[in-house]
Amino acid sequence: MALAQRCALAASHSAPPNPAVGCVLTSDEGELLGMGSTQRTGGPHAEIMALRDAAARGHSTVGAIAYVTLEPCSHHGRTGPCCDALADAGIARVVASIADPNPLVAGEGFRRLQAAGVEVEVGPGAEFSRELNIGFFSRMLRRTPWVRLKAAASIDGKTALLDGTSQWITSDAARTDGHAWRARAGAILSGVGTIIEDDPLLDVRRVPTDRQPPLVVVDSRLQTPPSARIFTPGRSVWIYAAEADAKRKAALERAGASVTVFANAAGKVDLAALLRDLALREVNEVHVEAGHKLNGSLMREGLVDELLFYFAPKFIGEGLGLASQPMPHGALTSLANALPLEFKSIEVLPPDFRVVARVQGRDRF
Ligand SMILES: NC(=O)c1ccc[n+]([C@@H]2O[C@H](COP(=O)([O-])OP(=O)(O)OC[C@H]3O[C@@H](n4cnc5c(N)ncnc54)[C@H](OP(=O)(O)O)[C@@H]3O)[C@@H](O)[C@H]2O)c1
Repeated sequence: MALAQRCALAASHSAPPNPAVGCVLTSDEGELLGMGSTQRTGGPHAEIMALRDAAARGHSTVGAIAYVTLEPCSHHGRTGPCCDALADAGIARVVASIADPNPLVAGEGFRRLQAAGVEVEVGPGAEFSRELNIGFFSRMLRRTPWVRLKAAASIDGKTALLDGTSQWITSDAARTDGHAWRARAGAILSGVGTIIEDDPLLDVRRVPTDRQPPLVVVDSRLQTPPSARIFTPGRSVWIYAAEADAKRKAALERAGASVTVFANAAGKVDLAALLRDLALREVNEVHVEAGHKLNGSLMREGLVDELLFYFAPKFIGEGLGLASQPMPHGALTSLANALPLEFKSIEVLPPDFRVVARVQGRDRF
């Protein structure tokens, strides 16, 4: 299963919107017969890749064991059902980490395998698989993506100078690590303030990938400049506005953007509606890299599931924080009312360090 998990990890950049899955086939005695990972959308799933790998190595799979990090699918989606392919290949036993939360599968893959006489064991590596695919589980079970908010801050929690300068607070290793998190996301989300002030690319450059996540820009009045560097050939840019002036909309569409309008009562973009719409567009994980205003709204509205924070060994003093919007209940009068988080990991990326903190209970779905 550890090898199947490595195969699943290897697919985490290319698999979305599919879950990243790994599969390893062994003989009864534990000899490796074949292995595979989920391919890009429309391509074969991990089980099919493992069966092909075994065939390419000249191995029979009759009586073999399949270790797979997610329940084999039972539906005719973009590819055929993997449970049937495994049974047809003579696999005697399937060890799967966890059931597929997709209502089109949800246990049906296991039932079909058992009906075909295949022994099924479920459970080893369940937590690894769910964590690797937390966005997929979120979209299937909550109908909304998993939202991870990334920020780079000084040790005193400042994300930009008072004049808005924020490039670059952290160093090379942290920035490369940030690109790896971008690469596994279904979409990268930012605000028009960041696009105008920094003119960033917000793409994946520092780690290998064969998929650039679409870029989502929150921009109430379509002020994104059509000349901004985010517009590169082949890149999807989805702009969400609160109102769409026809001339500005046409100019942005000519630059390559698609424009969707969702207004809230304050005349800004309705962020909850935006996230539901991203789920309909099959976005599993949203990677937020925005300024203090958009971060603040997302936090205030309870839409952030996880914080991905990089801290640099710098002290800024007066500067801009992570979030500038008041929380729903205003300034707290008791620390007992602070939003409770739990630290998932803390890692040193010299000279900086990275903290992943999750809103308590948010992953119970
Ligand atoms: N250190 C870091 O990790 C980091 C990361 C990214 C950015 N930054 C820095 O952040 C600064 C920009 O910050 P910013 O706050 O001005 O930009 P931002 O958060 O990227 O964008 C804010 C803009 O989004 C629009 N918006 C639309 N709907 C919204 C809603 N419901 N809630 C909140 N905003 C909404 C608003 O403009 P409209 O009303 O016009 O739509 C708002 O001014 C830059 O200096 C950049 O360098 C730092």
